[in-house]
Amino acid sequence: MTNRELIDKLNTEKALQKSEWAQLFATFSEADRLYAAELARGIADKVFGKKIYLRGLVEFSNYCKNDCYYCGIRCSNQKAQRYRLSEEEILRCCDEGRELGFMSFVLQSGEDRAYSTEKLCGIVRAIKARHPDCAVTLSLGELPAEDYRALYKAGADRYLLRHETADEAHYAKLHPQSMTLQNRLECLKTLKAIGYQTGCGMMIGAPYQTPETLAEDMLFIKAFEPHMVGTGPFIPHPDTPFKDMPQGSFETTLLVLSLIRIMLPKTLLPATTALGTIHPLGREAGIQAGANVLMPNLSPVAVREKYALYENKICTGEESAQCVHCLKTRLASIGYEAVESRGDYQY
Ligand code: SAM
Ligand code: FES
Repeated sequence: MTNRELIDKLNTEKALQKSEWAQLFATFSEADRLYAAELARGIADKVFGKKIYLRGLVEFSNYCKNDCYYCGIRCSNQKAQRYRLSEEEILRCCDEGRELGFMSFVLQSGEDRAYSTEKLCGIVRAIKARHPDCAVTLSLGELPAEDYRALYKAGADRYLLRHETADEAHYAKLHPQSMTLQNRLECLKTLKAIGYQTGCGMMIGAPYQTPETLAEDMLFIKAFEPHMVGTGPFIPHPDTPFKDMPQGSFETTLLVLSLIRIMLPKTLLPATTALGTIHPLGREAGIQAGANVLMPNLSPVAVREKYALYENKICTGEESAQCVHCLKTRLASIGYEAVESRGDYQY
């Protein structure tokens, strides 16, 4: 089959075989990519209209007990300047976000056990008490099931945990032995079973990724049926073992966004900051390829640069209000608008 036929098949059957996925990733042309983007954007317009959901991202700690080889805040990076936000500071970010029109907050951090589950539950409850009409998403990494349950009971609505790669051998090349794909997938299953709107995802162009491992990712995403998929390019960080690895391809990232949209029409799909980092119009291109979510940063400007997962991250110097204004202007330039909404998954 030609690549165009494969994209059509995906559109009608919502599934491809592993070898078909691998063929697409290995051999797609610019025309194939644009064809997929057009289909994907048409689907997203039908499901969401010209509306884009905003999530305010609060990166509240860059301490991490893990040592993922790709990540700038891994525990072995002695050069990382570590910080933690207090509950009060986190709440202030959300208050500011609400004033700017956000109805959805994402609390993200390294795996930092200085915040006990009890403390995190208290923070979630406090956000919900101040902003009962808003959604809270957590992205805190791998936790025991009882902690996920407690946080859900405290009011958290969603959880983002990228699976990173669905191929076991590939997973082992990106992480130390203490981390396993099996545990990551177990966490994802648990989160979904508890009732969270759950997001998985992977970096595009992660070191040692191949068309076959990416095919495994697509098969996993199809089977898992996530409510959200977080996917952006890998970007090297100079103080990690992967400092000399090439960054992920802009075109492949856009193609993957489009294919995910075609496969899962209702999924919540951000055009990530990483995509905006590797191309000046990356987030706009992501939306034009089928994404429907943007996640501007609400963290205090003083700490933004310190949450450096990769090099040259954008938007680290701007106040939140400036970021929102900039994004709204960018959206308008391509015919889209940000909506004041929780932006829940429509079951
Ligand atoms: N600790 C939580 C976790 O493990 O899910 C959340 C924070 S973690 C830094 C969020 C995501 O950042 C990871 O899932 C990974 O895909 C992405 N990331 C880390 N390093 C990156 C890099 N060098 N380039 C692009 N994305 C990266
Ligand atoms: Fe823990 Fe990156 S290694 S957040």
